[in-house]
Amino acid sequence: MATFAERYGPWAVVAGASEGLGEALARGCAARALNVVLIARRVELAQEIAEDIAAKTGVRTRAFRADLAEREELHRIVRELADVDVGLLIYNAAFSVIGPFWNFDVDTHLKEVDVNVRGPLVLSHGFGARFRARGRGGIVLLSSMASLQGMVRVTNYAATKAYNLVLAEGLWAELRDEGVDVLVCCAGATRTPNYVASEPADSNVPVQEPGNVAEETLNALGRKPTLFPARVLRLTHFMFRHLLGRRSAVRLMAYASNRAYNNQGSYNTGDRKAS
Ligand SMILES: NC(=O)c1ccc[n+]([C@@H]2O[C@H](COP(=O)([O-])OP(=O)(O)OC[C@H]3O[C@@H](n4cnc5c(N)ncnc54)[C@H](OP(=O)(O)O)[C@@H]3O)[C@@H](O)[C@H]2O)c1
Repeated sequence: MATFAERYGPWAVVAGASEGLGEALARGCAARALNVVLIARRVELAQEIAEDIAAKTGVRTRAFRADLAEREELHRIVRELADVDVGLLIYNAAFSVIGPFWNFDVDTHLKEVDVNVRGPLVLSHGFGARFRARGRGGIVLLSSMASLQGMVRVTNYAATKAYNLVLAEGLWAELRDEGVDVLVCCAGATRTPNYVASEPADSNVPVQEPGNVAEETLNALGRKPTLFPARVLRLTHFMFRHLLGRRSAVRLMAYASNRAYNNQGSYNTGDRKAS
């Protein structure tokens, strides 16, 4: 059995790695002996994490400033990392607004498409081509339980996450005989700075820790196409898929979403602290 580093090394690229789940995924890669490129807009935060990872694990790290909402920046990432022997791409970043659909102008919704759809598409295409050529590698996309059905207050975000789920599963099937593993992680509520800042009101929602989600994700790569990174999420998925009709699933998620965010008109995550 090849080790994680033999299959997905020597370098991992984590798009969206200056905090939270992205940081945990970068640390998880380093703990598995991969060198890591950490991409974020707040490159000074990514740089601090990169230095800390290097000091603690001895792997090589590099912080890379890019705005994943910008089309040209995505191509620049692929171009400028051409001389780095990347074996693993993790697309973690997302942009999300929370609130009724018409509280936001269409350009804001399009930014969700830019970061959550165009970003993973362009980077998966660019790095995936290299992985195919070298006959090994891995791609991890981050989706959400919101991707499994329509969901009020995050209507467009949920649709973008459905794209990631379907894209990753298709790539998994296309690339599995070429030595390239693909995984999509359907995360539930996860205690990241973005999640905490959104101030969800419903304390009954089970919340995962970023470190646990990252470990579940990296351990599942190469074993399956789709991961629900907690037992409660696997049960929810089973119930939605096998017991409820789609209409009931949509209504149940609408109830949960309205309960969590009923005090808010609208909220915008992802640009919280970005300059
Ligand atoms: N947290 C949850 O409850 C939850 C639930 C389900 C699914 N997910 C999924 O898990 C992933 C991470 O979630 P999270 O938002 O909570 O985040 P996180 O991993 O804690 O942080 C998001 C990271 O993405 C970076 N980022 C965001 N927009 C960017 C842009 N335009 N260009 C470059 N980097 C960008 C941020 O860095 P900068 O701000 O420095 O650029 C930050 O490092 C997302 O794909 C999300 O859909 C999260």
